[in-house]
Amino acid sequence: MKTLAIEGMQWGDEGKGKVTDFCASHADIVVRSQGGNNAGHSIEHHGVRYALRLLPSGILNPDTVNVIADGVVINPKAMLEELRILSEKGISSYQLLISKRATLLMPYHIEIDKAREEALGDKKIGTTKNGIGPCYEDRASRLSLRVGDLLDIESLQERVESILPLKNLELKAYGGKEFSVEEIMALLLEVREALLPHIIDTTAYLQKALKEGKKILFEGAQGAMLCMTYGTFPFVTSSSPLATAIPNNTGLPLTAVEDVLGIMKAYTTRVGAGPFPTEIDGPLADSIREKGHEFGTVTHRPRRVGWLDLPQLKYVIEISGIKRVALMLLDVLSAVDELKLCTGYFIDGKEIDYMPSTVAELEKVEPQFITMPSWKEDISSIRNYDELPLNCRRYLETIEEKLGVKIAMVSVGPDKEATILREELF
Ligand code: GDP
Ligand code: IMO
Ligand code: MG
Repeated sequence: MKTLAIEGMQWGDEGKGKVTDFCASHADIVVRSQGGNNAGHSIEHHGVRYALRLLPSGILNPDTVNVIADGVVINPKAMLEELRILSEKGISSYQLLISKRATLLMPYHIEIDKAREEALGDKKIGTTKNGIGPCYEDRASRLSLRVGDLLDIESLQERVESILPLKNLELKAYGGKEFSVEEIMALLLEVREALLPHIIDTTAYLQKALKEGKKILFEGAQGAMLCMTYGTFPFVTSSSPLATAIPNNTGLPLTAVEDVLGIMKAYTTRVGAGPFPTEIDGPLADSIREKGHEFGTVTHRPRRVGWLDLPQLKYVIEISGIKRVALMLLDVLSAVDELKLCTGYFIDGKEIDYMPSTVAELEKVEPQFITMPSWKEDISSIRNYDELPLNCRRYLETIEEKLGVKIAMVSVGPDKEATILREELF
């Protein structure tokens, strides 16, 4: 296999960073194709923790080329700060390429994001307040700056002069901070020098790499249920985390994505507002949250916790064509006395066989659960599938059977070593 896509199957934070890093040593190239620094991908290497937001998770491997492709929104200051933090941790040898077609995320996007959330009050989306939505909107309405604009200062200035008054109108309406052309140009010129050596036409680069038979790993950000079309709209992000969006975000043909590895937790989490059919609260949710350190990598918000939701996963498997999955954070469930697994959705007492597409309908869903016995043993040092406790294997085999997928990898701790590999991933 020459190419593989890593896709989050739930509401993000499934452990995509760990799996990408795990596979990166077999990849020539790791590509981020959508999202921005709303992502937070944690990687643990021999006890050192790295939190990546915009940088692809192959960045720790000096031989891997890391590509930030066309569909990404880039906050340049945030990206440079990430590189600075990495160099403090001793990672200063890396290969990074940034697409000329990628979109630049500017401070006014962040201000608009914050102002909108405030204006929505208790109807807010619970965004990461990183300006992601307003930045993608500007791309769609053809008002954004692109990385390639940094190459020519004169036309960059003209672009800023034509766009900024429109942005300021919006900010004024919200009573937010307005920006001057000088301020935005100063920021762009400040980051320009550091970015220039990395800027290329990544579409042409990836096309060539594909023809040369290079191994390419596509690292998804967010999760399928946060997809702006197929997720729990409007409580979603502003890009599509589905592997099916990769061609359109990289300039590669459909055939460029040979396989999709779905990444799922052994349970479910979500940050931010919106429907969550299998959500649990109270002391049980607290103990899972504590054991799994379920606090946002980006915002440090406590993540909402719920049981594994098979109808939700089945839906994602179908829309993404997933045949193999990595099941993450299984060790966390050792903290639970009795496990529940959602096997069906009912609305008004009738079973439904589709994923509701409106919030109104999703809120009416009554999840049907089966109960399964748990295990108490600490499984974090187990490396062979057959050594897992019987109840643990039963849990995994039930998931495989009901979802019709193969669990190719089981993760039992944050570190790279804490992995049970059942077949080669890449
Ligand atoms: P991502 O956004 O999909 O990359 O996931 P995050 O990094 O935001 O969240 C996953 C969290 O779980 C991180 O803190 C990881 O270090 C951690 N993690 C990953 N796999 C495991 C695992 O198998 N067990 C435990 N206990 N933690 C894990
Ligand atoms: P990774 O890649 C979890 C959520 C936010 C909010 C919604 C919209 O680490 O899995 P946005 O700032 O994108 O406009 O927020 O999407 N969200 C994530 N939740 N993991 C992520 O990324 C997320 N990126 C965005 O919490 O509910
Ligand atoms: Mg995350």
